[in-house]
Amino acid sequence: MPYKDMREFLHKLENIGQLKRVQVPLDCRQGTNELQALMRHLAETSGPALILDNLVGYNTPGVPLIFNPYGTRERTALILDTPDPVAAKLKHFQVLADPSRWIQPVLVDRKQAPCKDVVIPKDQVSVDKHIPHVFFGKEGASYITGGVGVTKDPETGIRNVGAYRATSFWNCVHPHGGSYSEEQQKKQISVFAFWNPPMSHIGLHLAKAQRMGKPLEVAFACQVDPALHLASATGIPYGMDEYDYAGGLRGAPLELVKCETVDLEVPATAEYVIEGVFRPDVPTDIIGWHSNSVGYYDKHQIFPMFDVTCITHRRNPMWYGTIEMMPPFDHNFMALLPIEGEMLSDLKRKIPEVKDCVVTPNMTYIVQLSVDGAQKPHPEFGKYVLHAAWGAAGRWPRTAKMLVVVGPDVNPYDIASVEWAIQTRVQPYSDIIINRSGQAMVLDPSAPKGPQGFPTSSEQMGIDATIKIPERFTEYADVSQADPADVAKIAAKLKGIC
Ligand SMILES: Cc1cc2nc3c(=O)[nH]c(=O)nc-3n(C[C@H](O)[C@H](O)[C@H](O)COP(=O)(O)O)c2cc1C
Repeated sequence: MPYKDMREFLHKLENIGQLKRVQVPLDCRQGTNELQALMRHLAETSGPALILDNLVGYNTPGVPLIFNPYGTRERTALILDTPDPVAAKLKHFQVLADPSRWIQPVLVDRKQAPCKDVVIPKDQVSVDKHIPHVFFGKEGASYITGGVGVTKDPETGIRNVGAYRATSFWNCVHPHGGSYSEEQQKKQISVFAFWNPPMSHIGLHLAKAQRMGKPLEVAFACQVDPALHLASATGIPYGMDEYDYAGGLRGAPLELVKCETVDLEVPATAEYVIEGVFRPDVPTDIIGWHSNSVGYYDKHQIFPMFDVTCITHRRNPMWYGTIEMMPPFDHNFMALLPIEGEMLSDLKRKIPEVKDCVVTPNMTYIVQLSVDGAQKPHPEFGKYVLHAAWGAAGRWPRTAKMLVVVGPDVNPYDIASVEWAIQTRVQPYSDIIINRSGQAMVLDPSAPKGPQGFPTSSEQMGIDATIKIPERFTEYADVSQADPADVAKIAAKLKGIC
C-alpha cells in the first residue's frame, strides 16, 4: 500500500520504533541554533527520526518539525515499502527502466484536498509568519528543504517536478553585510536552481522563459508522500513527468489538485503549498553562508527569486528541516538512492554484467559486476565499465571523481571490502585511469574555479579493481575467507556466549 502523504510515512516509522517525539527545548535561531549538532549526533548514532515540538526562537510554535526521517539507508528504503536498501534500489531502477509501469496522476476537487484547508491570498502573504523558519549551523538563510518544485516548459507546457531547496530572506544574514528589502523578506522566495551543468530541469525552464521574455509560474509542494520526493530527486529524461514515475513507484496514482493562482497541479495532501511567479528578467540575489553536501560552507550562492502569489496549508500542518553538511546527514541517503537507481538502470541496459551500483555518502561511485577474472567478456573489461559509468545518463555519474569497479565477491556497501579489492587486485599505474577533463561536482572546493566562478571541470580517478585474468595472469590466489553459511552456523552454536 502506498503512503497517502508524509504523515502516513511518519506513522509507519513510529510503529516500528523509528520515530520519537522530543519536548526538550532546542534552539533553532540564526547563529545560536543546536540543529546542526543534533544532525551530527543522530548521524553518528544511526539515530531515529524525530518530531521536535519545543523549538526555541521558532516563528511558528504550533507547527511540529520533522527531523532526520531518512537518516539511514534502511529508513530511506521504507519509502518504497521495504526495509532492505538493495530491494528498494531494484524497485527504483526497475520502474525507472520501464515507463509502461508509470501511472498518471488523477485530479481531485479542491474540497477533497487537505492542502487547501487554509488559503492565504497574495495581499496577505507574509513569509515571516506563514512559512516556518529554522536555521542550521552558520547558514545565513533559512531553507525550505521538504519541497518539490513544479514548473512547466514555457514552450511545450510539459511539466517538471524536482527536489530543489528554496530559501526565504526573512531574518537572514546577508553574506556581504547588506540587508534584504522588506518586500524580499516577506513576499519573495529563492530557489537553488542552477546547480551543476547540465543544470536542473527547473533551471532549463527558467533559462527558456528568460530567453522568451515570459514569466514562469512555480509551485513548491512541501512535505509530500516521500515516494514523490524520491521521484523528484531522480533525473528522469527531460520532458517526462515525475508525477507519472512517482505513480509507478507507489503502484497507485498521485492525487493532484489545481493551484489557486498559477496553472499548475500539486499533491492534494501536501502540508504546505507555496505558489509564485518568476518575473521574465528572473531577478537573483546572493545568500550565504550556504552549507553544502560535500561538507563545506560556500561563502555565498546566487539564487533566482520568485514573487509569492499564494500560500496554502493543511490544518495543523507539519514542517521538515534538514541541512547539507559533512556527510552523512539525513537526506544524503534520500539523494543517493535515486542516483544509484538511475545509474543501474542506464548501465544494466548497456552492460548486462553490471550487477549493482552504490554511491557512498561522500559520493564515491562503486560498480559491482556479476563476473570477474576469466569470466569477463573481454580483457580490460573493468576499464570499459569505468568509461561507461562516466558516460551514464543523468546529472551525477559524469561527476564521479572516485569511481571503482569490483567483482561479485566484493561488497560494494562495505568500504573495507572495496579497499581490500584495491589493495589486492590493482596495480596503480596499469589499473587506474586518470581522466584530466572530467566534469566537476560543482561544490568540490579542490576543483579549479572556471570563469563562471565555480568549478565545471575536474580531474577524476577510475580504479579497475577486477581480477586481471586474462590480461596479466592465468590464475589468481584463492581468497581466504569463511563461508557466510558456516559463519551463521557457528554463531548459532555459540549463541549467548559470544
Ligand atoms: C532533499 C534534496 C534536495 C536537493 N536540492 C537540490 C537543489 O537545491 N538544487 C538542485 O539542483 N538539485 C537538488 N537536489 C538534486 C535534484 O533533486 C536531482 O538532481 C533531480 O534529478 C533534479 O530534478 P530535475 O532532473 O527534474 O531537474 C536535491 C535532492 C534532494 C533529495
